[in-house]
Order: sequence, then C-alpha cells, then structure tokens
Amino acid sequence: MARAKGDGPVAKLSEGEAASEHARLAAAVAENNRLYYQEDAPALSDADYDALRRRLVEIEERFPELKSEIAQSVGAPALPKFGKVVHAVPMLSLDNAFSDEDVTEFLARVRRFLRLGEEDPLAFTAEPKIDGLSCAIRYEKGRLAIAATRGDGYTGENVTENIRTIREIPGRLKGDVPDVVEVRGEVYMRHAEFKALNDRVEKEGGRTFANPRNAAAGSLRQLDPSITASRPLHFFAYAWGEMSGMPSDTQAGMVQTFERWGLPTNRRMRICETAAEALAFYHEIEEERAKLGYDIDGVVYKVNRLDLQQRLGFVSRSPRWAIAHKFAAQQAFTILRGIDIQVGRTGALTPVARLEPVTVGGVVVENATLHNEDYIKGIGSDGEPIREGRDLRIGDTVIVQRAGDVIPQIVDVDMDKRPKAANPYEFPTTCPVCGSHALREVNPKTGVRDSVTRCTGGLICSAQTVERLKHFASRNAFDIEGLGDKQIELFHGRGLVNTPADIFTLHDKLDAVKKAVFEQREALAREREARDGRKREKAVPENERTYKDVDNLIASIEARRTISLPRFIYALGIRHVGETNAKLLARSYGTVEAFEAAMIAAADPQSEAWAELDSIAGIGDVVAKAVVDFFVEPHNIAALKALTAQVAVEPMEAVDTSGSPVAGKTVVFTGTLERMTREEAKAMAERLGAKVAGSVSKKTDLLVAGPGAGSKLKDAEKHGVKVIDEAGWFELVGG
Ligand code: IVH
Repeated sequence: MARAKGDGPVAKLSEGEAASEHARLAAAVAENNRLYYQEDAPALSDADYDALRRRLVEIEERFPELKSEIAQSVGAPALPKFGKVVHAVPMLSLDNAFSDEDVTEFLARVRRFLRLGEEDPLAFTAEPKIDGLSCAIRYEKGRLAIAATRGDGYTGENVTENIRTIREIPGRLKGDVPDVVEVRGEVYMRHAEFKALNDRVEKEGGRTFANPRNAAAGSLRQLDPSITASRPLHFFAYAWGEMSGMPSDTQAGMVQTFERWGLPTNRRMRICETAAEALAFYHEIEEERAKLGYDIDGVVYKVNRLDLQQRLGFVSRSPRWAIAHKFAAQQAFTILRGIDIQVGRTGALTPVARLEPVTVGGVVVENATLHNEDYIKGIGSDGEPIREGRDLRIGDTVIVQRAGDVIPQIVDVDMDKRPKAANPYEFPTTCPVCGSHALREVNPKTGVRDSVTRCTGGLICSAQTVERLKHFASRNAFDIEGLGDKQIELFHGRGLVNTPADIFTLHDKLDAVKKAVFEQREALAREREARDGRKREKAVPENERTYKDVDNLIASIEARRTISLPRFIYALGIRHVGETNAKLLARSYGTVEAFEAAMIAAADPQSEAWAELDSIAGIGDVVAKAVVDFFVEPHNIAALKALTAQVAVEPMEAVDTSGSPVAGKTVVFTGTLERMTREEAKAMAERLGAKVAGSVSKKTDLLVAGPGAGSKLKDAEKHGVKVIDEAGWFELVGG
C-alpha cells in the first residue's frame, strides 16, 4: 500500500509499537482471509491485502517473538528453516459464526443440505475453540513418527522434535491402535505459565510475548528443541487427518478414543441436539471463560456422525459440517486523531483511522479501517445508515471494537464529546500520490455510485504501478525472493522496472541495479546512524555483500521463469481476480494462450467466448467483466506479451480424476433432484472433475434434468446436448 503518511519503516518501530501494530495486522489478515476464502467476498484489494501480509511478516522478521500462525496461514508458505511436511489430508480452517442467528442458520443449512425433516434428530458436538496453534501428529504403529504445523494448510513445518518435548503428548499410544493415526489438535499455553514465562523473559532482558497464543507459537517454532522443552506447552486433540482405520463413527467417539489412547482431550465437549442447547453451552462457557486457565475464542460445533460429515463435505477451505462460534467483540473509547489515505493497486483510495492508542481486549489498537467515503459519512454499503447516520470527524471520541480475528472497526461516535471546531471530513478528490482526479464511478446499469473512490491516474499513478509490481512479485503470485516492497520501490524509482517484464531483464542492467541497492543500503545505514547517534565501524556497507545479494536476487528471478497458470493469472493483478478466481480461470482454459485468446474474443458480448466465460461456475458477471476489461486495454496486452516472451507458463495440470466418466465435462443440473440437493450435486460433479455450469450452451456435455425442468431442457435439445435424469447420473458415476 502506498502510504501517504502513517506507519513508518519497520526498522523504526519500538517494541510496543510493533506489538500493537502486529496485533492489528494479524487481526486484519485473519478477517480478510475469512472474507476471501470462506465468503468469496474480499473487502480489500489484493494489493492492500498483500501489503498487510507483507508488513506483518516484516514485523515478525524484526521481532521474532511476535511470530504468529496467521502470518504463516492460508497461502503463506512454511518457514524455510524447518523441513516441510505435506499433509496427507489438507488442514483446513473453519467458517465463523458471530451471532446466535448465524448458529441457527448453520444448523438449518446442514439440515437442508442433508434433507432432514424437522423431526429427524441431528446430533452435534459443541467444543471450546482453543486459541493456540494447530498441529498434526502422526503415529505409525502406535509410535510418534512425525509432527507438523498447519503451514498453508497443505504443507506445514516439520516440528517433530519440538512436539516430542511436550510432556503430555505420548511418544507411544496406549492399547490397540490402527497402523497410521494422525491426530490433530491445538498446542496452547496456560495463562499462569504464560505470565511466568513473560516475567522470566523480561528479567532476562528479552522481549515479552503479546499473548499466550504467540507464546505457544513462538515456543513451538524454535529451531532448537531444547528451547521448546523449556516452555510450558500443552495440547488438546480434537480432530484427525490420515487414519488407516476408524475406531469410531462419531466425532465424540473419536475424541473419546484419543483419550483412551493417552492423548489429552478437552473434557468440556458436549453433545447437543438443538440450537438452544448449543447456545446455552456457548453462553455458559463464555461466562466461565476467564476461569478456564487458558484462552478460548469461541465454541466449535461439529456434526457428530462421521457419515453425515462425509456427505456434507467442504466448501472451498472449510467444512460444511462445522462452524466456529466466536465470542463477541470487545470495545473501548478512544480519539480519532487523523485519517490517512492509502492508494492500492487498482487505484482504490482507502481511508485509515489513526487512533489514540487504546487497549481493547488486551491488544493495543492504533488504526482502524474506514473502508470508504460513505463509511466515514455514516452510510453503509447498502445505502442504509450506519452508526445511526453519525459521521466521523477528526477529534471525535469514538468506540473501537475488535472481535477476535476481525479488523478493528469504529462502531460509534460520542456526539456529546465532539469538539465544537470539528468539521465534516472532506474526502480527497485527487489522488494523494499522483494528484490525478479521484472519482467514484457510477454503475451504468444501476445508476448507483460505487462506494470506492478511485484514482484515475492509471498508468501515470506511480502508487498503482508500484502496487501492481509488488503484487506481481508477491508470495502467492511470482514469489520472487528478495524482491520485496522496498526493492520494487527502489527499482521503480530509478526507472529500472516499470512493467513486470522489466523484472526479467534486470540482469541486463546489473550495474545500475547494484548501484541502486548499494545506495539504498548506504542511505539506510546513515538513517540508522542519525537515529542511534553513533558512527558505524565501517563507513560504507561492503560492496561485496551488496553484489552477492544482487546476484542472489537475479538468481531468484531466474528461478521464476517458469510459472504455473493459476499463479500467472493471479499475478496479472486483474481486479476481482484473487487466487480462487485465478484457479477457476486456469482450470477452465488450461493454457495462457487459450486464456488470452478467449478473453480477447469475449470482449464481444454476443460471442461464444463471453458465454463460456460467464458460465464458469464461481465466476460471476462482475469478475467476468473485469477480466474482459483488462484484455480490452492494448497496454495490458502489450505488457502480457512482453511478459510471456520472458517466462514460460505451464499448462494447467489436470486434476487427478482418472477413471471418472465426467472428468473435464461441462455438466448442468436442472429441475428437482431427489437424492441430492443442488449444492450436493454440484460438489459431487466437481469432485469427479466436471465443470458445473449454470446455463446450457453448445459447450455443455451433459444436462442432468429432474422433474420440472424447463428452458434448460429446451436449450439442450436445441444444441443437441445429452440429457439424463438423476438416476442416469448415479448410474453414470457409479453412485
Ligand atoms: S476443528 C476442518 N476443533 O480453530 C477444521 N478446530 O478457526 C478442523 N481450533 O484451524 C478444525 N479449537 O486451529 C477444531 N475444538 C476445535 C478447535 C479448533 C481450536 C482451531 C484450529 C482451527 C481453527 C479454525
């Protein structure tokens, strides 16, 4: 994010500033992960999100004791210092519920999906949601073989030796156990032990931990297991990964079995049958929360029967059969000191509240998102008033709220305390970086003004260019090691890199690159000298080291000359195309050439290419239009061509659905289905490698039509698409 003003360099943060900013960033990243991965409704542009994550990682690099799971979670690769462990079964996350209604709705959703009648029983467990870090521990023939952190959910860090030091985790399971048992659960630290540890660290002059979760994470992720051994860590087993045999057919039964095998489990798990019972448990445990002795941040509900869990399956990264009911937000009063404007990759101007630091639920909050102009004015995204229509003014006394992993919000303002001189905030009408006009576009279809104010500078706005380049090189895109925000700002500022393709020709400008890096280091060193008030021993940084680092950078650029198609599409930084959509597009088009040709053809709304793009399951109109808009711009095509001249984009690897009769086929479901709900049908078809579309076109391979099918059946006849009924579907796929 280009910062007009505000958060300075990480190198200048004090411990306290770092800890509070870290807490804010971690909460923001977590909330945005949830919005992005679970709701498919990102609230931030990719650039802003990446900037948040990068800063979080930067802070953790400088203050290792702040190391948190969140910086490593979803999309973040395992730290290179540990060996990697590929999870046999991915370690996914949970969807969140924030209110009693969300829980009732979750249970209703489960019932609907399973087609349960009102009278049909549905048992589910309610378990405390432990606030630690999740771990997978694999036992082979009863012996602890390997343990790993979650990492990005697919690959974690090998922490076997560290896990072995946790006394309550048995090295050997008791009794008769299946050959392979992978237990999953939470590593955590108790309050009293956390306090004692922090006291000790403080006495020794070290940096204290912000909370028990950070302390647990920091203690487990130690390269030296003897340090882990000296830390008081505990474990609760509540889930599993690969199992060569299943000792029970319920969630509660599995956890009881873990206990029999000698693993620590949480005794407070309860079996519920109604929403009322679940909520009673939630409120009861919320009351007791402070007395438990360890941090919990909510309650997890899980469908008890494993066969039902299996039927419910997963939506993107979380199971349909479970939900985390988070504890309510914590609030505090503080003063709104200022509003800064940040400019993102797509030119969005995002206001950020700078607050008088205040502790909310044990964490210092200094910044809060203000989303957009309307939000400051007291108007919500649906045009309805928020804070009863009260606007926010600099100098106001406001209520800030943070709820677990949610980005801090300003929920209200105390009008009695508003300073007389406080004026309504005037949202900028020009970009604070390039000075171009900043506008709120009007949707031509609806006539509604967009809530986002955008800089119209496009290519001339250096903030946007730089943010696009940062996004391009970022971890989930090209992942170019050593090409962080600072380097991109530097190279862009020196005119060395303007477009992504320029990154791949940097080796032709080696002298200029070395000079730039050298001078940047020198400037930083001088800054440090000025701050610390003492001279360095060596007046200038060593040339040799600089040159070596530049050589390494060039090598890591070279290492990225081949890239997967989803990453490539994501790296283009097209509006609304985050990782999920990039994957969907990659899967649909297979190669970069096919993708590019189809997107250019799709500019004609009458074309088949447009119809095909628009019918990709998961790609809505808005996304489709954004992709087409990107390819309508000649300069984007030119940048893409320059880039593909430099890098090889691997065709998409087909999902392993060998043997599936519908793999690669486009299927449409219509009419009433009796053995499965529409959602279940879709999930099943996708599992078998089929693409599920919403409408019938020439490209459709199969229409599964239940009773009451209408226009789609006619379309199928028109296009000569094969039509079968639900029974035919099960016959075909062998269900
Ligand atoms: S079940 C497929 N049960 O919460 C998901 N998770 O927000 C399996 N957590 O990643 C997770 N207590 O680290 C489950 N009783 C519990 C839990 C729990 C804490 C953590 C876990 C998970 C995160 C999701």
